[in-house]
Amino acid sequence: MLLMKDIIEDDNPTIREKSLPVEMPLSKEDEQLLLDMHEFLVYSQDEEKCEEYDLRPAVGIAAIQLGIPKRMCAIHVLTYDSDGNLKKSDDYALVNPKIISYAEKESYLKDGEGCLSVNYEVEGVVPRHAKVTVKAYDVLTHQDITIVARGFLSICLQHELDHFEGKLFYDYINKDDPVKYIPDAMVIE
Ligand code: NI
Repeated sequence: MLLMKDIIEDDNPTIREKSLPVEMPLSKEDEQLLLDMHEFLVYSQDEEKCEEYDLRPAVGIAAIQLGIPKRMCAIHVLTYDSDGNLKKSDDYALVNPKIISYAEKESYLKDGEGCLSVNYEVEGVVPRHAKVTVKAYDVLTHQDITIVARGFLSICLQHELDHFEGKLFYDYINKDDPVKYIPDAMVIE
């Protein structure tokens, strides 16, 4: 299983490398890597496993964060209702995901973004598209899929796909005014 020690941090130049498309059909190694990445996310959000393995809770991870420059990422986003009951789980283990369309409208997370490769807090508004449509091959369901994502999931996908380009969330924060107001943006709590 993957542990925190396997994840490279933002002081490692590899995090800025561009990731290459993954050859299909998928090799057994690549498939297993993606499954391990997804498992890491599930464990990181499980109270017991998180403590047992000293993980940092995360909703997404890209292969480059393990030092592997391949266009692969995993997502595990749990949504709860107002009573705190689990409403849904968005789970993906994606190969060569690509944004095929997006909304001009912007959105951002009210409390800012975080990243497994950034082990300190960075405050500031990270402008994202409010909606993206992503095409990919998904290892969890063994098929080509199209994800139409809004809100938090949309931001997670954009964050992970940015890792393929060597971009980190704080690159988007306005240096002079980190909490710069974005007119008409959808603010996600
Ligand atoms: Ni990240």
